[in-house]
Amino acid sequence: MSNYHIKHLEEYFKVYRKSIREPEVFWEEIAEEHFLWRKKWDKVLDWDFSKPEVKWFQGAKLNVTENCIDRHLSTKADKTAILFEPNNPDEPAEHISYKQLSERVNQFANVLKEHGIKKGDRVCIYVPMIPELAISLLACARIGAIHSVVFAGFSSTALATRINDSDCKMVITADGSFRGKKSIDLKGIVDEALESCPGVENVLVAKRTKADIQMKEGRDKWLQPLLGNASKECNPEIMDAEDPLFILYTSGSTGKPKGMVHTTAGYMVYTAYTFKNAFQYRENDVYWCTADIGWITGHSYIVYGPLANGATTVLFEGVPSYPDFGRFWDIIQKHKINQFYTAPTAIRALAKHGAELLDNYDLTSLKVLGSVGEPINEEAWHWYNDNVGKGKSPIIDSWWQTETGGIMITPIPYVTPTKPTYATLPFIGIQPAIMDENGGELKGNQVEGRLCIKFPWPSIARTIWGNHQRYKETYFSTYKDMYFTGDGALRDEVGYYRITGRVDDVIIVSGHNLGTAPIEDAINEHPAIAESAIVGFPHDIKGSALYGYITLKDSGEYRNHDNLEKEINQLITDRIGPIAKLDKIQFTEGLPKTRSGKIMRRILRKIACNEMDNLGDTSTLLNPEIVQRIIDHKL
Ligand code: PRX
Repeated sequence: MSNYHIKHLEEYFKVYRKSIREPEVFWEEIAEEHFLWRKKWDKVLDWDFSKPEVKWFQGAKLNVTENCIDRHLSTKADKTAILFEPNNPDEPAEHISYKQLSERVNQFANVLKEHGIKKGDRVCIYVPMIPELAISLLACARIGAIHSVVFAGFSSTALATRINDSDCKMVITADGSFRGKKSIDLKGIVDEALESCPGVENVLVAKRTKADIQMKEGRDKWLQPLLGNASKECNPEIMDAEDPLFILYTSGSTGKPKGMVHTTAGYMVYTAYTFKNAFQYRENDVYWCTADIGWITGHSYIVYGPLANGATTVLFEGVPSYPDFGRFWDIIQKHKINQFYTAPTAIRALAKHGAELLDNYDLTSLKVLGSVGEPINEEAWHWYNDNVGKGKSPIIDSWWQTETGGIMITPIPYVTPTKPTYATLPFIGIQPAIMDENGGELKGNQVEGRLCIKFPWPSIARTIWGNHQRYKETYFSTYKDMYFTGDGALRDEVGYYRITGRVDDVIIVSGHNLGTAPIEDAINEHPAIAESAIVGFPHDIKGSALYGYITLKDSGEYRNHDNLEKEINQLITDRIGPIAKLDKIQFTEGLPKTRSGKIMRRILRKIACNEMDNLGDTSTLLNPEIVQRIIDHKL
C-alpha cells in the first residue's frame, strides 16, 4: 500500500522525504492505487518553470466524475454524498446519496449536451449555494466542458468581464438566492451582464426563490423540467490528464482578474490526497467547509476532494448570522460535524458575539478545525481553539491559493503539533523556499523573506486563460526557476512556517521591513478592538509610516479614543517594538472587504495616500458604502 493516509509524525517525515527525493515514484504510487484510470500515463512529470510548463500524468485518460461518483456506487450507493443545509433552518436538510448524485449529474450533463455544449466549451456557473451548484460543476466535468464558476455575489459588471474573458457559451444560474433574511435577484444580475456578452447562447435557470423573473424567449430555460425529462445515464467523456477541468478567476495586483486554469488528473489526485490527510477524514465522518463553491476552497474542499474520497460533504446555503449568531454551532450539533473548515474572518465575527452562545450547543462531534484564506491572528486562534475545539480538536491553519489548487502548508491533525498563527510544515510533496529580495534562497531555520515553491506539485495552475505571458510574469519571473507565491513567510527555529501576509503589504519604515499581519495581531489583542488593517503612507523622514484603520467591538466601552490610541501603540511597542507604532489611527465602523471576506488594503492604502480619485472598481466589494464613509472621516 502506498502512503495514502499519514497517521503519525514519524510517518509524515518519512513520506515527506520520499516525496521530495523521488516525487515521480511517490505520486505514481498514489495515483495508481487510489484512482480509476481509463488508461495509465506514459510519463509522470514533465516540467520547466522557465517556460513555464508543467504536465502531470501525461498520456493518461480518465474522467474526474467517474472517480468522484461512479466508482463509489458499488460500495456507497446509499451513503450521503452531499448534505444540503438550507438557509432557513425550518426547511429540512436534503441528503443526496451517491446514487442520487450520479443520476442528477448525468441528467444535468445530458441537458448540457442537448444545448450544444461539448468537450472544451466554457460554461459560466453563477449559482447560489444550492445542490444544483455542485451538480453543475460535476455535469460539466462529466462531458468535458470547462466550468468557470463566478461567485454569486459578484456584480453584473464583474460577471460580464469573466464571461467574456473565457468566451462562455452558456450561463447556469438561479432565479434568486437566499442569504439570511434577504433574497437576491440573481437572474436580474445575469440579464444585465448578458447585455454585454454576445457569445452566450443559453441560460439555464434553477428555481429556488420562486421570484417573479423575466425569461428571454429562445435564450432562457427553466432547469428543473429539462432535468426531469433527461436520461439518468450519461457516458463520461474520456479526458486527457492535462485537459482543462475548470477556470477560476482570482484578482491580481492589476485590475483585470486572472482566469487560473486547472487541469484534470493532477488536480484530482492532489485535492483528494490532501483532503484525506489534512482533515484526517475517516469513513462515516461528516465534513463541513463553510466556504462558497464560488472560491477555490469550495471547488477543492467541498466538491472534488471530498467526493473523490467518497466522503459526506455539507453544503450550507446561508450565513453565520441567520437566524442568529449560533447558526454554525447549530449546524455542527444537528449534523454531528466531525471536520469544520472556515475562515479567520468568520471566527472573528463570531467571537465578537461572545463565547457564551456556544454553551447552548453540543459540539462534541468535532475532531478537526480548519482555518484558511488569511493569516489567523493569535487572539482568533485561541478563541477558536478554546471555545469551539475546547482544546481537544487540533486547528489546521492551512495555507494555499487559488493558483495552488490544494493545501500547501498545514499541520496534519493529530500528527503535527500545532502552534498558534503558524501553518507549520509543508504538505507531502511541497518544497517551499524562503527567498531574499536579491533572489537568493535563505537556507536554514530562523529566516524570513518571500515564499516560493521550488518544485511542481500535481495541482499547480497551468496557465492564465488566454494570457500565458501574464502567468509567466506574475509567478515565474521574480525568482529564477521558482513559483513565487506573492506571500511573505518566516521559518522558525524548528522549521515551522508562518505566513506573514502578502509581500505587497510589507511596509518599509525607516529602512525596517514591517509585516502588516504581526502589527494587526498585536492590535487585535486589545479587548476593545474587533479588527484592524494597516497600510503605509508617505512620510517625510521615515519614507513610509503606518496608518491604522480600526474597528471596535460592539460593547460600547472605550469611548475615549485618545486613551485607546495610546494603548494600541503601547501594545505594538510591547509586541514588536517602537518602530512599528502607528502614526495615524482612524476608527471606523467597518473595513472594505471582498466577497470572500478579505480586507481590501489596496483601497485603504490609496485613501491613506490621498489617492481618492484612483480607487479602482469598488463595486465588487461586500460593503462598497463603507469606502465613502472612511474617506469622509479621513485624518
Ligand atoms: O496571502 C495568502 C492568503 O490568501 C492568499 C490566497 O488567496 P486565494 O487565492 O483567494 O485563496 C484563498 C483560499 C485558499 C494567499 O496568497 N492565505 C490563504 N490561506 C492562508 C493565507 N494566509 C495566511 N495563512 C493562511 N492559512
